[in-house]
Amino acid sequence: MRAVLGVGGGIAAYKAAELVRALQKRGHDVQVVMTRAAQEFVQPLTFAALTGRKVVTGLFSQTGAEDTLSSAVEHIAVAQENDLLVVAPATADLLAKFAYGLADDFLTTLYLAFTGKVVLAPAMNNAMWEHPATRANLEILRQRGCSVVEPDEGWLACGTIGAGRLPDPERIAGTVDSVMRHKKDLTGETILMTAGPTQEALDPVRYISNRSSGKMGYAIAQAAAERGARVVLISGPVSLAAPLGVELVSVRTAQEMRQAVLEHLEESTIIIKTAAVADYYVAHVPQQKLKKTATRLSLELDPTPDILAEIGQRKGDRLLIGFAAETENLLEEARRKMISKRCDMLVGNLVNRDGLGFESDQNEVEIITRSGQTVHAGPSEKKEVAERILDQIATLRLSLRAVDTVDTPA
Ligand code: CTP
Repeated sequence: MRAVLGVGGGIAAYKAAELVRALQKRGHDVQVVMTRAAQEFVQPLTFAALTGRKVVTGLFSQTGAEDTLSSAVEHIAVAQENDLLVVAPATADLLAKFAYGLADDFLTTLYLAFTGKVVLAPAMNNAMWEHPATRANLEILRQRGCSVVEPDEGWLACGTIGAGRLPDPERIAGTVDSVMRHKKDLTGETILMTAGPTQEALDPVRYISNRSSGKMGYAIAQAAAERGARVVLISGPVSLAAPLGVELVSVRTAQEMRQAVLEHLEESTIIIKTAAVADYYVAHVPQQKLKKTATRLSLELDPTPDILAEIGQRKGDRLLIGFAAETENLLEEARRKMISKRCDMLVGNLVNRDGLGFESDQNEVEIITRSGQTVHAGPSEKKEVAERILDQIATLRLSLRAVDTVDTPA
């Protein structure tokens, strides 16, 4: 997920640095926005170093007319680019401004322009926390759908004991996760997925396979189930636990994968084919183990069925999403495969870079659609990339439904 962390001007602002780390650990891509008061407590440089991004510190740039124009509309861009706004520490002043729609700096203006989920982590002196004005403002914000992480009790910076301490960053990040899980935009869909490699036997003990770990496909399956879809996951041999809430069908070969896909095709509304299917197999596998000889061994291989291309021919109005793992010419190859296999969308990635793609927990992909749109996701945790891919699928689904509605007379 892409998250904006709004840092308010309280003594707990320094803990926001740990929160950046906790959010990043969970796969969130974090952009920091600081109020002027927050900058009195912590330098923007701290957050810039942690996030690798420029920290937004004001509504208007100080550097010139052109910059001022771009920064004046930046809050709209930041609002549109992010799924989540976390405010920590959310001071009494910020809560009041949010509740009454004041927009006199970047963070308050961003809050008004923001349509995603909002998580507030208030922190302040206990008397301010208990003041009826603060309670009433929080109530307004709760009723508008903001999630509030209640402050902890304990010693406060002002020397008193009471409620008002910024909660542990891990607890705030945990709340963020559970809030985001409630995005249910795939409810009603049945997603048929394939993941992992296939193994094609050479003899009773040996096989041909590839380096696919299944991690990308499993991350998509898990995220899709969390977003409300029924998910049937047809998986080649991997060493991953079955994702929660997903119906897992285990297969070994390309032929078995094809069979399982065809069996579940009718009930599906979206098909996502992340599997790295072997392109060749041995049609006649010897009954006994091949014995070593001193001479060269030649294998005769036949092509496996191209499951994606076959489904492309018979998908009807289902959405079909293919994957392409390439080592060169990524966009050209991805477009070629999308057209030739009749996919609605294709996700391509380069697999010959260290720390990304096969076997890794990170990925970086290009998501291309038939309309010619290309969206870049990552490099980030596969869970985060999975959410980005599902965002594009959900958007495509909505736009196709809208076209249907326009085309169909009432
Ligand atoms: N695919 C499939 N059945 C196959 C081979 C591939 O369903 N026998 C699917 C994969 O699941 C993936 C897409 O096709 O969604 C692209 O796979 P890839 O191996 O990149 O494509 P190939 O057509 O095999 O092309 P290449 O020559 O690059 O291997």
